[in-house]
Amino acid sequence: MARIVGSIMMSHVPAIGRAISKNLQADPYWAPWFDGFPPVRRWLADVKPDVVVAVYNDHGLNFFLDKMPTFAVGAAPEYRNADEGWGIPTLQPFAGDPMLSWHVIETLVDAEFDVTTCQEMLVDHAVTLPMALLWPGDAPWPVRVVPVCVNTVQFPLPSMARGFKLGQAIGRAIASYEEDLKVVVIGTGGLSHQLDGTRAGFINREFDELCFEKLVSDPQALTKYSIHEVVELAGTQGVEVLNWLTARGTLLGQVTQVHRNYHIPISNTAAGLLCLENRG
Ligand code: DHB
Ligand code: FE
Repeated sequence: MARIVGSIMMSHVPAIGRAISKNLQADPYWAPWFDGFPPVRRWLADVKPDVVVAVYNDHGLNFFLDKMPTFAVGAAPEYRNADEGWGIPTLQPFAGDPMLSWHVIETLVDAEFDVTTCQEMLVDHAVTLPMALLWPGDAPWPVRVVPVCVNTVQFPLPSMARGFKLGQAIGRAIASYEEDLKVVVIGTGGLSHQLDGTRAGFINREFDELCFEKLVSDPQALTKYSIHEVVELAGTQGVEVLNWLTARGTLLGQVTQVHRNYHIPISNTAAGLLCLENRG
């Protein structure tokens, strides 16, 4: 049977793409961020996952404001990356896992999560940067990818409780998949940041630290925040922490922290990284 071996949550700031393309990993501005990754890469080398389920939000690339699914799941054999306007290099197409995608989609719809299904899907920096950070270099990633897109962009957004429940349903879907697969779930975006409006530049370390703590040991506690409270506490784009909570929902076993890193700021963002192991 398939099993979820853990989850990795991290920020997805476009400037990271430029830093990678210019080899700035050791630069004093960038080192506190990139130095967070070796322990997570060592953990990945140890667990050797076959598939990554990527919980992220699209930034106007595949879905624009005219058509905005609350939840969408990729079911494509291959995904293409494009730049939605940041001017960062795009990556080569990468492999999906349509069989697993359809199993997840069918199980979710059966559980009354009526997701949009995408047999073609463009993905933006919110998928490619985390993957490029986990598997750096030009070689193809050693995993297939199932993208799960959550609307954190245009109101009404799903609630924190709903995201967590979607994650739990994805966790059950994967546990009922017959192929012997090891799956890592990534959740991208966050932590606190706001790119526009009068609060542009807003960062809230205290709330980010609370999120880290609760994501490890008491994720249910985060479901009590309304989405408007999260916008207030984390910023309009910091609400992407919903993707982290959705990813956390997929871990149905005993969860322990492997590693975490936090650095303020990368661009306008409190940049976070959290790696969790799931046993049993
Ligand atoms: C930034 C952060 C994001 O989450 C994003 O999607 C785009 C930009 C930033 O801080 O620059
Ligand atoms: Fe974002």
